[in-house]
Amino acid sequence: MKYLYTVIVAAVMLFAFTANGQDTSKEKKKENEEIIIGLSIDDLRLERWQKDRDLFVAQAKKLGAKVIVQSANGEDAKQMSQTENLLSQGVDILVIIPHSSDAMASAVDSANKQGVPVIAYDRIITNSNVNAYISFDNIRVGEMQAEYLVNKVPQGNYFLIGGSPTDNNAKLFRKGQMNILQPLIDKGDIKVVGDQWAKDWQANEAMSIMENGLTSTKNNVDAVVASNDSTAGGAIQALASQGMDGDVVVSGQDADLAGLQRIAEGKQAMTVYKPVKTLATEAAKLADRLARGKDIEANGKTNNGKIDVPSILLDPISVDQTNIKETVIKDGFQEEAKIYKNSK
Ligand code: GAL
Repeated sequence: MKYLYTVIVAAVMLFAFTANGQDTSKEKKKENEEIIIGLSIDDLRLERWQKDRDLFVAQAKKLGAKVIVQSANGEDAKQMSQTENLLSQGVDILVIIPHSSDAMASAVDSANKQGVPVIAYDRIITNSNVNAYISFDNIRVGEMQAEYLVNKVPQGNYFLIGGSPTDNNAKLFRKGQMNILQPLIDKGDIKVVGDQWAKDWQANEAMSIMENGLTSTKNNVDAVVASNDSTAGGAIQALASQGMDGDVVVSGQDADLAGLQRIAEGKQAMTVYKPVKTLATEAAKLADRLARGKDIEANGKTNNGKIDVPSILLDPISVDQTNIKETVIKDGFQEEAKIYKNSK
């Protein structure tokens, strides 16, 4: 009898732990029961994440789920305590946009211990048993930025402004940028005259990086590889104070309203539009399935240093003055009247 009991306990334990060592023992909700999703956002100070939040919450509601949203405003300790708080509120799943791709591994560990699955939203969480990752092809984003600039300025002085050093995406963007730039650097066509990373992707960080860059190069900059629209905005402010905005080509990313307005005005060359509606919609569906213990469909795997994480990676789109209408406006991502507010 005792032997039988031991066998049953062992079998139940085996069932509760998957191959990744994740505890899946938290009781999963039935089809007619409401699931609760904890959405932990790095930083709502940036325009991009406000859109993600709104679209994600709307889709989750459609699926009959409730979402509890928290924003850490760029602080690891705060994000950690917020995820603990979400777990203690009994969420069925955590969806995390990590401020630090490394630090949030502890949040995944905590969730795993309680049998709560975790989705890494837009940014991977490294060295953890995260259940799924949904994002864009981020290396391609970096390639698009650099491709655009080298088409406009095939030779000249390039200044690189990377994103937050704690964000794994920032490294992927740089990898993509270098895929395009390195051969031209080796050929001697392009010279990198500055290479800095903007803390927390903040515009004011990028502005002071650019101000110093202009001083040290005596304004000898032809192109700025800015990794997103907030950093592009900071760089363009610094260029403007030297009367150089519009003359220096600057890349961006996110199709932020402010970024598109600068493109319309000819101050920023391009942005990379990532259809966030698809990202948020797919993420909400993924959350619903994982929370109910159902299988998920991924189109790839991403090694996060510990495991191959089932991944959904979507395609980014390069946007400049010529295709604003058929991309962001057509998709209802931004409004035409607002984009052209200052330029028509
Ligand atoms: C990245 C994200 C970008 C940009 C940036 C700043 O991780 O992929 O779209 O928004 O963060 O928040």
